[in-house]
Amino acid sequence: MDRYAVIGNPIGHSKSPLIHGMFARQTGEQLSYQALLAPLDDFAGTLREFLHQGGRGVNVTVPFKEQAWALVDNHTPAAALAGAVNTIQRLDDGRLLGDNTDGRGLVRDIQHNAGLALAGKRILLIGAGGAARGVIQPLLQAHPAQLCVVNRTVEKAEQLAMLFKDQGPISAAGFEWIEESVDLIINATSASLDGQLPPISPSLIRPGHTWCYDMMYASEATVFNRWAAQQGAARCIDGLGMLVEQAAEAFLLWRGVRPDTTPVLAALR
Ligand code: ATR
Repeated sequence: MDRYAVIGNPIGHSKSPLIHGMFARQTGEQLSYQALLAPLDDFAGTLREFLHQGGRGVNVTVPFKEQAWALVDNHTPAAALAGAVNTIQRLDDGRLLGDNTDGRGLVRDIQHNAGLALAGKRILLIGAGGAARGVIQPLLQAHPAQLCVVNRTVEKAEQLAMLFKDQGPISAAGFEWIEESVDLIINATSASLDGQLPPISPSLIRPGHTWCYDMMYASEATVFNRWAAQQGAARCIDGLGMLVEQAAEAFLLWRGVRPDTTPVLAALR
């Protein structure tokens, strides 16, 4: 049986074993998938041990994605630009290939599951940390009219806009600079984790038109999505679909078959 795992810290509440278990049953692939807690100071040791035991692939989650990027031998173009790796594949010759499937998962959830075509849309991406960086290239590949990165520390947004300037129409801003409504607002800050709201103007939401997407998810609506609903956002979506879709992209890389995510997402809801 081929072995896979997700490594993180904390890892106890990870839904990845459940998701990949459902993918395996659905596709008839023979594999096992477990959650591994790595000590905060020894991601590399946990990864090495799992591979030594025959592990074929690994998902990497908070806070190890940047370390994973530095550890692998090769990067897919997506991972190279993201600066973070969430999926590792052990190649036949033993080298490690690092991919980042987060952005593809996000775009697929928005376009395919929710049904919003991104081409020509004005998008605001809130946050300029690792989570934001990981999704910029796939968002630009969907041909939006504009992708504006807005961040509390505006220098970090400007750095991202510089880094991705050859990939598409990207700009940077501070929260107080922007007021005009957009088509889609994506929250990629870690503020929701602390129950906090980024300081964005309600005028960014055109009631009945603007869609809002929080990359976080929780059993209840996130603070950001509750706020967006109060402002009359046309749709408020959480990150559960992105989680399932990034997992499906990892499964595709490892097994060469893309699972049907619809029944899996329905089961998780
Ligand atoms: P991650 O890997 O989840 O992106 P990160 O790299 O630490 O984590 O980045 C966290 C992001 O959330 C940053 O953009 C941060 O803004 P700063 O760069 O100004 O620190 C943003 N963030 C966190 N808490 C926030 C809050 N309460 N309001 C606004 N932005 C917040």
